[in-house]
Amino acid sequence: MIELKLSDLHENTPVKVELNGKDLCVVRQGSEVFAIDDICSHAEASLSEGDVTPGKIECWLHGAEFDLRSGEALTPPAIAPVATYSVTIEGESVKIS
Ligand code: FES
Repeated sequence: MIELKLSDLHENTPVKVELNGKDLCVVRQGSEVFAIDDICSHAEASLSEGDVTPGKIECWLHGAEFDLRSGEALTPPAIAPVATYSVTIEGESVKIS
């Protein structure tokens, strides 16, 4: 489990964090925070360098979009989903596990 401060997460600005040796991409949208695998399921690109739209993140390398909530690949060339992680927000505390 890792703990972040909500005020350190800026709206629609993905950040890369490490959890148990794995890179995660964390995105704040409104009152929600999403955490998914940072590495795109298509190739070795970092999703935290991608563009965020409501509920989605687009891989900067070949343009595949992923659902931030489910991790599902929404557009090609990615087919496989990325893993999602549980996020709990309590006041200023954001816990990801
Ligand atoms: S590496 Fe992400 S779409 Fe190709």
